Amino acid sequence: MFVVETVEEIRIACRALKRAGKTLGLVPTMGALHEGHLSLVRASRGTCDATVASIFVNPTQFGPNEDLGKYPRTFESDCDALEREGVDLLFAPSVAEMYPAGASTWVEVEGVGDRLDGASRPGHFRGVATVVAKLFHIVGPTRAFFGQKDAAQLAVLRKMVRDLNFDLEIVGCPIVREADGLAMSSRNRFLSVEDRERALVIGRALRAGSELVAAGESSAAKLIAAMRAVMAGEAGVRVDYVAVVDRSTLEEIEDVRPGGLLAIAAVVGTTRLIDNVLVDKVLVGAVIPEEKDVVTVAEEGFFAAGR
Ligand code: PAJ
Repeated sequence: MFVVETVEEIRIACRALKRAGKTLGLVPTMGALHEGHLSLVRASRGTCDATVASIFVNPTQFGPNEDLGKYPRTFESDCDALEREGVDLLFAPSVAEMYPAGASTWVEVEGVGDRLDGASRPGHFRGVATVVAKLFHIVGPTRAFFGQKDAAQLAVLRKMVRDLNFDLEIVGCPIVREADGLAMSSRNRFLSVEDRERALVIGRALRAGSELVAAGESSAAKLIAAMRAVMAGEAGVRVDYVAVVDRSTLEEIEDVRPGGLLAIAAVVGTTRLIDNVLVDKVLVGAVIPEEKDVVTVAEEGFFAAGR
């Protein structure tokens, strides 16, 4: 694996690969890698000739009172994991390399970018869309891989690619969970033992919503009430949003249908966590796993095991 820190070098390397006729997969990350990130690498390796990963803790997507300063950085072990997974190129630029002094151009995805996490974290998706647009221009991937875990981010980036005619395919990948159902996140390491336990309420609430959908309930208001009731049972967990939305526009829907999304954001201790379930998956009998001791596998594995 080649580790490259400058835009010029990664451009030269990616151009050479494309000239050799290879398809390029891009996996953008902020590092502190876990199995969720590695599942994206595997998806890329499975469908593209060469895989480029990036590690860049993007300052423009953090609000002034957010955790940029304490965002986990584990570069050495990240490199080892990416090397083991067979990544060809790692792009790990400095902030000055990505945002040279005076940079003042932004990508703003209006509408979608202002909903869910975009509403709770003003300016967040402007930072995400801008850095991802830059990575797309720098690497020129055939496909780019993103996790369904960040459902709103995925919707924003799909919209950006459509609106700005990026010549690439966005591939959404299933949520990878811990053995007890907690969605993997770089931020889970900030949870105390007690908060780690409390955080499971998010999965319980989504499971309650999913079970209602599976039983034929179509009123979003009823689902939200049921999910909120579960969330309320766990003191010390502050709900940010409990929402039933269209997965593409992120607009609230009244009647649950294919293409819908149940989504929750909550602050546990000082850590903000998000998780979601696609209605389509629920309708084919896939629900969030019970909290039980099973080995960590991708979401699909859980679903298969639970059926
Ligand atoms: P980061 O939080 O590091 O996540 C990188 C990618 O991994 C995202 O596409 C995210 O959805 C995916 N991911 C995280 N946890 C996952 C899980 N449990 N299962 C499946 N996929 C998971 O998202 C970002 O970084 C940044 O916003 C970025 C896109 C890199 C732009 O700065």
